[in-house]
Amino acid sequence: MSEESNIPVKYAYKGFNLISFGTCIKLLFSGYLVTIAAGYLMALIQILFTHGMADGKFGLSLDDIVYSYYGDRSGSVLESKLNGSMKFNAPEQERFKIIQWVRDGASEPAYNASIKTIVDNHCVSCHNAAAGSLPDFSRFENLKKVSESSEGATFQSLTRLSHIHLFGISFIFMFVGIIFSFSTDVPCKYKYPAIVMPYLFLLVDIASWWLTKLNPHFAWLVIIAGVGLGISFAFMWTVSMYQMWILGGIRKQSDRRNALLRD
Ligand code: HEC
Repeated sequence: MSEESNIPVKYAYKGFNLISFGTCIKLLFSGYLVTIAAGYLMALIQILFTHGMADGKFGLSLDDIVYSYYGDRSGSVLESKLNGSMKFNAPEQERFKIIQWVRDGASEPAYNASIKTIVDNHCVSCHNAAAGSLPDFSRFENLKKVSESSEGATFQSLTRLSHIHLFGISFIFMFVGIIFSFSTDVPCKYKYPAIVMPYLFLLVDIASWWLTKLNPHFAWLVIIAGVGLGISFAFMWTVSMYQMWILGGIRKQSDRRNALLRD
């Protein structure tokens, strides 16, 4: 870090901005931005694994979002699993018997008469009380529960997820926004929207979960809000990092009393 620097003269010593900050502040901001970016990446992978598999196929689609929030009202979890990931656990005929039983209303007498033996033979080896996270299908109530049609996310889980996301993500964008506010020479017509948009998209995103719960047509709004949030994050992140480390060469300040600007 030489005495000479390549900072364009018009930025040098003109107060606080991402270019003129001392290395301490730049390291602090960058550490935060890099960690948050890793967190964002993990969140995307998590979405791919939870919502991405909702329709039985890998990858996120509109159907996934509809199934996650609105549910698959045409069928039960049991039926869709028997046609999906549980397909090879029972012979064709026995699977059809279970599906027929589900469609006939999943009554207890019919269960005792023919379904219990099939389930005991083909399913309970995995789905038993000791299995922990898997539902225990040696009990009628548990099988009955998955035979009811799926209503998607429950209101309790939506309220829980909504408040966690609203508090957590607005916090993240408070700091990303503060850092980005120190960028210099970004035209206001980009800067103002970039700062406001994350909050707007966050509100739209959360609202769209609830709307999709009521009406599956709103699923596209979930995608638009998610993409918008991602774009504003990527924009602020890139501009901030670029200004700190590429545009702003490090200039040694002779006055060591200025803790924000000196190195
Ligand atoms: C080899 C072990 C194994 C066998 C046998 C098996 N399952 Fe599963 N089952 C799993 C695992 C693991 C999961 C969780 C992963 C998934 O959903 O695909 C699961 C999930 C399910 C679910 C979803 C549960 C939920 O709450 O989301 C249903 C319903 C189900 N199985 C039904 C059946 C039925 C009916 C049979 C018998 C025909 C059966 N399974 C046999 C391992 C098994």
